[in-house]
Amino acid sequence: MNIGIDKLSFYVPNLYVDMTDLAHARDTDPNKFHIGIGQDKMAVSPVTQDIVTLGANAAAKILSDKDKEEIDMVIVGTESSYDFSKASAVAIHRLLGIQPFARSFEIKEACYGATAALQMAKNYIAEHPTRKVLVIAADLARYGLNSGGEPTQGAGAIAILVTSDPRILTIENDSVFLTEDIYDFWRPSYADFPLVDGPLSNETYIQSFGKVWNRHKEVTGQTLADYDALCFHIPYTKMGKKALLSVLSETDEATQERLMNRYEESITYSRNVGNLYTGSLFLGLISLLDISKELDAGSTIGLFSYGSGAVSEFFTVRLVEGYKEQLAVQEHQKLLENRRKLAIDEYEEIFTQALPKHGEAATFDDEILFSIEKVENDIRFYKEN
Ligand code: CAA
Repeated sequence: MNIGIDKLSFYVPNLYVDMTDLAHARDTDPNKFHIGIGQDKMAVSPVTQDIVTLGANAAAKILSDKDKEEIDMVIVGTESSYDFSKASAVAIHRLLGIQPFARSFEIKEACYGATAALQMAKNYIAEHPTRKVLVIAADLARYGLNSGGEPTQGAGAIAILVTSDPRILTIENDSVFLTEDIYDFWRPSYADFPLVDGPLSNETYIQSFGKVWNRHKEVTGQTLADYDALCFHIPYTKMGKKALLSVLSETDEATQERLMNRYEESITYSRNVGNLYTGSLFLGLISLLDISKELDAGSTIGLFSYGSGAVSEFFTVRLVEGYKEQLAVQEHQKLLENRRKLAIDEYEEIFTQALPKHGEAATFDDEILFSIEKVENDIRFYKEN
């Protein structure tokens, strides 16, 4: 049975910082951000958006009433959870109006969470082929003002509808995964921002890719030449490129050129958004599908997922006939074009705004489809415009 992605979309907040402005404000050469890190714009989330609203805003665009009746599970992959007990998926389930006899829960393993969710969804559909699973990857990637990770921040969500006989791509049964207990990026429960060992995280990311890729070759016999494109988790766009470059010498020149060209297409959206943590790999996939003119039904794409801490996975997806008709290319590009650029002082003010804590109350007004309306008695209330 073919199982995979039937619908796919993303949502990013309508505010961004230009990386040249950020570089000037941080007394840094703009080329370090644009070329050295590979980022042009960075999405900034207002206080009225959290993982629930980002996720609901991403999913609302793709779900029909029929989908909502047929979804049995809502799984949110995130590392920006604001509650240790109640899952954001429960609130998203209600906001989207999904039928009540569904499972809703959150999955965590840094930026790997959504891949775990996707594979779990695939397994569920194998046993329930007439049903559907909604996978959401939603995160606020924040390192703090003036921090080393500041130019690699971002925010947004991906929504993925997993079904049998999918209309975009099938997920192959070839996953290779790896777990290594390290501290390259982590966030203790008391910390507002993650702790990160930047050089170790870069090194572990590349080594993990090498390990799962080599094992994948051993197990499946496939080589780089078998792929039309490779997509990577993109904490910043230079990162995936470094991983790709680390293996390119294994193959012929034509394959090298093809994979590098497709990589550039896969990072176009991320260059203008920044890190989505769990969603980054899938924003890369959407960018590739939306932009590339070189892919077609049957094209094979390898996906490398990396979550610090660290868990990684390499797996293959294959495009199906008619996939282009399922893409919301213009809507995606409009979403990115219609954002407002923030001056650095505005960004710093928005970044430091926080929702009330310890029983304090506040109300908010935002015109976005789903947003936080108020916080009262330690509960977030959401509204739909
Ligand atoms: N012009 C062009 N390039 C320049 C330059 C200039 N003027 N100045 C510097 N550069 C280049 C450097 O040569 C370097 O390139 P290479 O990596 O190819 O050598 C690049 O810009 C970055 O420079 P530094 O290494 O000096 O930058 P930094 O010390 O500020 O750290 C960072 C960069 C490690 C990415 C940091 O921003 C960070 O810690 N980010 C968060 C952690 C992260 O994203 N890690 C990625 C792997 S972990 C993961 O993937 C999970 C996740 O989502 C977090």
